[in-house]
Amino acid sequence: MKTLDLVDVSGKRVFLRVDFNVPLDKKDGRVADDARIQAILPTLKKVIDGGGKAVLASHLGRPKGKVVSEMSLAPVARHLAVLLGRDVPLAPDCIGPEVRAMVAGLPAGGVLLLENLRFHPEEEKNDPGFSKELASLADVYVNDAFAVSHRAHASVHGITKHVAVCAAGYQLAKELEYFKKSVENPERPLAVVIGGAKVSTKIGVLENLIPRVDHLVIGGAMANTFLKAQGYGVGKSMVEDDFLGKANELLGLAKKRGVRVLLPVDVVVAPALESGAQATTVDVTAVPENVGIYDVGEKTLKAIQEALQECATIVWNGPLGAFETPPFEKSTFALAAYLGSCKALTVIGGGDSASAVKRAGAADKVNYVSTGGGAFLEMMEGKILPGIEALEACMGKE
Ligand code: 3PG
Repeated sequence: MKTLDLVDVSGKRVFLRVDFNVPLDKKDGRVADDARIQAILPTLKKVIDGGGKAVLASHLGRPKGKVVSEMSLAPVARHLAVLLGRDVPLAPDCIGPEVRAMVAGLPAGGVLLLENLRFHPEEEKNDPGFSKELASLADVYVNDAFAVSHRAHASVHGITKHVAVCAAGYQLAKELEYFKKSVENPERPLAVVIGGAKVSTKIGVLENLIPRVDHLVIGGAMANTFLKAQGYGVGKSMVEDDFLGKANELLGLAKKRGVRVLLPVDVVVAPALESGAQATTVDVTAVPENVGIYDVGEKTLKAIQEALQECATIVWNGPLGAFETPPFEKSTFALAAYLGSCKALTVIGGGDSASAVKRAGAADKVNYVSTGGGAFLEMMEGKILPGIEALEACMGKE
């Protein structure tokens, strides 16, 4: 994919679509996790150093087309200013005469952050007029917002139709490179570890991945549905009864394809999902009626690690247990630490797994942590992301 390396940005207005949809601290409103901001710094620095005029655009939260002051990008502008060691002005809006004047006044190497794109309903509607207005701020359009590239929104999709020169930012290119190396064209054996609450949200992922993987590990509350489908008692655990048939169908598909599936063999149970709950580990054949399953047990963890040991590539999406409620965090953190220490190419996607890897101190030890949540899942489903398709079409017209 054509990156910014192939574009001369000198003296040009570079519209940089980034994903600054970052968590803000509930008490002081400051940026609570800046991974997505750090991720685009190489692209931003390349524009600045190349004498371009960086016009940064992002959404924050879901303000539903209205101005919501708590979703202003002001805290992000302040945070970015600290990271860059220079002032980062925030425009009062993302379109309009005042914004146009601010962009026109940018010096070479200057940086301006536009206010939240989603304060306008036209952004999510992919409105052509709004797309054109955004495009009027750009000589060059750069998408470095992988995490929102699954949305056909004006600043991701529509804008590409009205700009002559388009390129991918380094972060977007890196996301696609790691996806290719881990899912599309991996060194084998390939293991995918899928967890999280609901199997219903991962059906597309499982259907797409089963024909590609050598090992499939299923954990989290979604494993309960598979266990119940296989005839095990799961007490009062969360189960999606409507998906029992689908779960068996997926296991059948895996068997047909020769995929080794690892379901929990022992589980951590408790009367309720509460911090400090009285937890015990039981075999999956002996889950009492009056408890719920909130984590996988040690035997399961050992079996997972043994399977992963022989893999050259491991992709992880979704926690193995209710890791935000101790004592049910153990297997998820142990897996995160294991991935940080193993030799395989390790790629982590999804907010919960990324947060677990960070909390386990393994974020710098795994090979790659995707900045995408929904976008990563859609890639794993085998979908073509509209933002990437539009970017490629724009590149093709040059
Ligand atoms: C994300 O956080 O996954 C992206 O910023 C997309 O946000 P959205 O789900 O509100 O479109």
